[in-house]
Amino acid sequence: AITRHYKFDVMLQNVTRLCHTRSMVTVNGKFPGPRIVAREGDRLVIRVVNHVQNNISIHWHGIRQLRSGWADGPAYVTQCPIQTGQSYVYNYTIVGQRGTLWWHAHISWLRSTLHGPIILLPKLGTPYPFAKPYKEVPIIFGEWFNADPEAIISQAMQTGGGPNVSDAYTINGLPGPLYNCSAKDTFKLKVKPGKTYLLRMINAALNDELFFSIANHTVTVVDVDAVYVKPFDAETLLITPGQTTNVLLKTKPDYPNAQFFMSARPYATGQGTFDNSTVAGILEYEVPNKTSQSNHSTKKLPLYKPNLPPLNDTSFATNFSSKLRSLASADFPANVPQKVDRQFFFTVGLGTNPCSKNQTCQGPNGTRFAASVNNVSFVMPTTALLQAHHFGQSRGVYSPYFPISPLIPFNYTGTPPNNTMVSNGTKLVVLPFNTSVELIMQGTSILGAESHPLHLHGFNFFVVGQGFGNFDPSKDPANFNLVDPVERNTVGVPSGGWVAIRFLADNPGVWFMHCHLEVHTSWGLKMAWVVLDGKLPNQKLLPPPADLPKC
Ligand code: C2O
Repeated sequence: AITRHYKFDVMLQNVTRLCHTRSMVTVNGKFPGPRIVAREGDRLVIRVVNHVQNNISIHWHGIRQLRSGWADGPAYVTQCPIQTGQSYVYNYTIVGQRGTLWWHAHISWLRSTLHGPIILLPKLGTPYPFAKPYKEVPIIFGEWFNADPEAIISQAMQTGGGPNVSDAYTINGLPGPLYNCSAKDTFKLKVKPGKTYLLRMINAALNDELFFSIANHTVTVVDVDAVYVKPFDAETLLITPGQTTNVLLKTKPDYPNAQFFMSARPYATGQGTFDNSTVAGILEYEVPNKTSQSNHSTKKLPLYKPNLPPLNDTSFATNFSSKLRSLASADFPANVPQKVDRQFFFTVGLGTNPCSKNQTCQGPNGTRFAASVNNVSFVMPTTALLQAHHFGQSRGVYSPYFPISPLIPFNYTGTPPNNTMVSNGTKLVVLPFNTSVELIMQGTSILGAESHPLHLHGFNFFVVGQGFGNFDPSKDPANFNLVDPVERNTVGVPSGGWVAIRFLADNPGVWFMHCHLEVHTSWGLKMAWVVLDGKLPNQKLLPPPADLPKC
């Protein structure tokens, strides 16, 4: 294992897409941002320097951060933001993870332009549990806004209404030929026939779950969220914001003399507005020899387009996620907690907050949109939760009494109640070290009927069960999979349904959990867990680094 150093200069850069140029916050002037490569066991030392007017923090999405919670990154959760002219060194080790993860800004909506891949290779000499691919290709899905996303969300928060949607989806920063003034900004993947490519796919879009498909090609899913899965073939994938998926793409043995669209567009079940457009990249087979090349440069190749499922195809989504299983092999066991110390039931969904006097709000019935967990819409503190916890100064910063079930239970998937108001607060759940947790997340249909990709920091969890309607504690647990459930860090809680996860709270610190649809995070669909230190020295959070930013 080695130490790898990176420097992230956060700076403005002019970027043009769809004939609109805007100055955006980037890392090192790149959009999407630079990739980080490490092997399992390596230490990463990443110095982030803030040269812009915005406050910044960077999160390493999916990295376990064992005992190194100071490097996790969500602003006001594990650190105060890095202010203009300041810097902070994120220092952590990759423990037991290989696959694809990603990094992104974790403050306001800056992650729309501040994100990039984290490629985690196995230890030197350790092969993949599948044939070595000929080439590896990161594929990041994002959203392009002609306007500044920071202005979009700040306006939405002021008016209480829904924010403007994006103008395009992107593959590796490029919207592709289906948008106006965009044909030259098309991601093209040139491949050789008869080879296997490992596509490392990341959904970095702000607000949309995406279907993805390559015309006339089937891919094999081998890994999600940096955990190997039992391989299965798929023509279409579903990736929620926050999730990563590694697939093997076998190119056809004979040169097909064609171009193939690789397209993505949203999976959307809600009634809200969203960007209903399609991004396309092109898979193009290399021409085998020079003679035919000259032929081809003049001839237009036939173009094949994939069929993507209908926008609200929840049965596709359910069927796809039910195929995901841990490898659960001797080399890669699935350590599913078999016993449960604490069980929690959380409702997740949208609601409203009252409009302040003398204001007209653009949310439902003149209210403001809000979102909540167990009817608590999370209020960000003005100082970091981890410091408050670590230095014994939680008083006035957060309450350790998160309601462990909804205060007023109702039929979550039936007729919505008349009262859509949520409460507001900064409430956390406190867990002793090594608590084995089972969490049922129940989607509500109080407002909208959306699927929520819930992301937990600091842990992977096992998705032991999933279903539609209201979770039934007398029946549903009998069907839980405790043998080979998929292990991941972000899971879609289905619209009108529930998901059951289990994790072992073996990582001391304060860990954020939130919907990875950025607008829902802004509205308060978030909370945090405090995991106390264990008794042994190697069960304690490491001391904070000297350069930890101050608020
Ligand atoms: Cu990818 Cu808390 O985020």
